[in-house]
Formats: sequence, structure tokens, C-alpha cells
Amino acid sequence: MRAMTLADVAAVLEIELAVQAYPWTRGNFNDALDHGYVCSVDEQGGEIRGYAVLMPVLDEAELLNIGVAAKHQRKGLGRAMLREVLDIARGMNMRLVFLEVRASNAAALALYRSAGFAGIGLRRAYYQNANGSEDAVTMMCELLRGGTDGQA
Ligand SMILES: CC(C)(COP(=O)(O)OP(=O)(O)OC[C@H]1O[C@@H](n2cnc3c(N)ncnc32)[C@H](O)[C@@H]1OP(=O)(O)O)[C@@H](O)C(=O)NCCC(=O)NCCS
Repeated sequence: MRAMTLADVAAVLEIELAVQAYPWTRGNFNDALDHGYVCSVDEQGGEIRGYAVLMPVLDEAELLNIGVAAKHQRKGLGRAMLREVLDIARGMNMRLVFLEVRASNAAALALYRSAGFAGIGLRRAYYQNANGSEDAVTMMCELLRGGTDGQA
């Protein structure tokens, strides 16, 4: 992966709009870059295949977004990107990484669990959906120095 730039946002947004039920806007990505969040893209042969956005806060971080282009899903890319993001966080001396995920997002839940995240709570009716609302699962990964997180 490499750092995302403003010039990548159009390609990232195209993936985001295609794979996320409730996608971020261009402004969300621009703001993340403006705020200096850790924004990364996976690029191969000039094609952006995936992206991730991590918000550092002191020695903790929140994974705000991760996505893989539909045609590249289920090939291990999401897991590899997540592992790299956790390595970046560890390199920044982060201790904990948190995230929130829709309770219905089985793919993401399985990915996060396999990367060392554990569920630590539920936020009831946190997200809007077609039925009105759905819960958010809050997850946490402890970054052990030379430890066992992100091992998958
Ligand atoms: C979640 C996402 C990033 C996973 O990326 P990916 O490259 O397809 O994932 P991987 O191939 O690395 O799979 C890693 C694990 O995730 C789980 N997984 C991925 N896709 C899955 C699916 N469709 N159904 C069930 N589990 C799935 C599996 O446990 C998988 O491990 P396995 O292949 O050994 O069974 C991708 O599905 C995506 O972009 N989804 C839309 C955006 C999104 O929901 N982002 C997360 C919330 S912001």
C-alpha cells in the first residue's frame, strides 16, 4: 500500500460507491486527507484496488473505512490491507485500534475477527438502513509489540 493523495480520491470514490451500501462522499475522503488521517491505497499496475482510512488519536486509532473493489474481493486483499494498516498503527506506537461495523456486515465482521479484533460492545440503532436502523458492533484490537494481532 502507499499513502492516498487527493489525486486518488476519484478512483477511491468509484470503488466506495460500488461496494458500500452507505458510501462516504468525496468530501469525507478529502476531509480525512486534510485532517492528516492515515489514508492508504493498494495500487497495482496503475489500478487502485482498495483503500483504508485510520484516524489516530493519541496512542489509539479508529479504523474509519476499508474497501476492496468488487472484482478483487475474496482474494485476501482486504486481510493483507488490514494487516498493513495495523502495522502502520504499531509503527506509530498506537496501543489500541477500534472500529464500528454494521451488525449485518458478515464479511467485514469475519475479516476483523480473523485479524485479531474482538467485539467489545453494541451501539443500538446506530446506523440507518432500509428497515430504519441497525446496530453497530464496536470492535477493538490490542497492538502487542511483536505480538499476535493481525496474525491471520
Ligand atoms: C470487507 C472487505 C474489505 C473484505 O475484503 P476482501 O479482500 O474481500 O477480504 P479477504 O479476501 O481478505 O477475506 C478475508 C476474510 O474476510 C471474510 N470475508 C470476506 N468476504 C466475505 C464474504 N463475502 N462473506 C463472508 N466472509 C467474507 C472471510 O472470513 C475471509 O477469510 P477467508 O477468505 O479465509 O474465508 C470487502 O468485502 C469490502 O470491500 N466490502 C465492502 C466495504 C465494507 O463493508 N467495508 C467494511 C466496513 S467500512
